[in-house]
Amino acid sequence: MTDLLAIVLAAGEGTRMKSVRPKVLHEIGGLPIIAHVLGAARAAGARKIAVVVGRGQATVREAVEAAAPGAMIFEQAARRGTADAAKLARPAWEKAEGNVVVVYGDHPLLRGHNIKAVTEKLDAGVDAAMLGFEPKDPTGYGRLITEGDRLLAIREHSDASEDERQILLCNACALAFRAGVFRDLIEKVTDRNEQGEFYITDMVELANQAKLNVGYAVADADEVVGVNDRAQLAHAEGLFQRRMRHRAMASGVTLIDPKTAYFSFDTRLGEDVTVEPGVFFAPGVTVEAGATIRAHCHLEGAHVGKGAVIGPFARLRPGARIGAGAHIGNYVEVKNSVIGEGVKANHLGYIGDADVGAHTNIGAGTITCNFDGVGKHRTVIGANVFIGSNSALVAPVKIADGAYIASGSVITEDVGPGDLAIARGRQVNKKGRAKELRDKLGKSKGKPKGKSH
Ligand code: UD1
Ligand code: CA
Repeated sequence: MTDLLAIVLAAGEGTRMKSVRPKVLHEIGGLPIIAHVLGAARAAGARKIAVVVGRGQATVREAVEAAAPGAMIFEQAARRGTADAAKLARPAWEKAEGNVVVVYGDHPLLRGHNIKAVTEKLDAGVDAAMLGFEPKDPTGYGRLITEGDRLLAIREHSDASEDERQILLCNACALAFRAGVFRDLIEKVTDRNEQGEFYITDMVELANQAKLNVGYAVADADEVVGVNDRAQLAHAEGLFQRRMRHRAMASGVTLIDPKTAYFSFDTRLGEDVTVEPGVFFAPGVTVEAGATIRAHCHLEGAHVGKGAVIGPFARLRPGARIGAGAHIGNYVEVKNSVIGEGVKANHLGYIGDADVGAHTNIGAGTITCNFDGVGKHRTVIGANVFIGSNSALVAPVKIADGAYIASGSVITEDVGPGDLAIARGRQVNKKGRAKELRDKLGKSKGKPKGKSH
């Protein structure tokens, strides 16, 4: 395969987002837009990646380093246009061999095959090739001026004539060049246009003037949507969710009402998992085969074992590891805890910083008191334990295998294997005193009080 350098442009200010956060850090499926684009560049076979970020955008830098370790990062001090940004990656393209592709950093749904569509044109003999698409509304996009399968120019919307604005085929987000062609032309771009910017798109006309051959490929419009404002962000998110739902169903997942299941970029669901309506998978969730996520659950950073049943109305927070066949029921929250096989915690509870052994039963209303106001502590519960309803387990505390905790207990001391722990006030029954109490209460109710009587 020909060597490929991808130059990803991410220095724009994103003013139309009206946000303190740089545009490319807004998320689609829980992952920054820029990370999606870098993933596409890698999937297209770009062994070298250069990213141009805005001056002082430390947070963008961090996101790039996390998503594409080893990527070269360059800074653009003033937003002078896409060609100016690409030019700033000089140390990356100066000695590049093979092909160079410039990719806009604000197209989160882009995939490797979209970039390959243009690099393959280069391999087939053209000197440069651009990715086009037909958006529903072409306003604001650069128009592709073509003649047969040749691309003559890209005209930015603000510079286009009325006739040119009728063209529906637009510039998407991937512009590929033979490395030598890129080097020859990038310096020739000027800022003589409506916006006074250096347009990377001008390289098409320059290539034609140099008698080079420029081709184009056409992408599915839903794969190359750009994000400039919040409405486009929501549109891209919707398309991404549709993609993830289809992927899940294709791999054997039942989504009872697909449009109400929300996925993150890394959600992994096994075969025969069933997802009921209204479920949100935040990042870091894996669900093994045959498990059921019942209606209205929120899961994040959690692992659900084979055949487990979660919800309805359950919350799994980071570090929740639910064993095979376990049941986590309504209004139960689990955080940073390892729940053994076949455990049942069916109603109302908080299990945080705990280990729960296999086949233990956690009664309704059980709370692990894991935080003492200063630090977090662990609750360790063995296998086959019975925790009676409405118990408070004050960590750090250990409850050994087979132990039995009476309902309403506040457990502050370790419980040995097979022991019964009762930790609550003893009940007092007073013979026949119910009537006496009622009479007393009735009298006080009948008494006139205050000035209003
Ligand atoms: C650009 C294209 C347009 C195309 C559209 C597709 C140009 C001149 N225009 O327009 O043909 O139809 O994308 O979405 O290329 N950037 C920098 N530095 C700059 C300017 C931009 O890094 O000085 C980055 C931005 O962060 C962004 C990308 O380049 O990721 C595209 O810039 P943007 O301003 O969004 O261009 P559009 O007006 O959308
Ligand atoms: Ca854009």
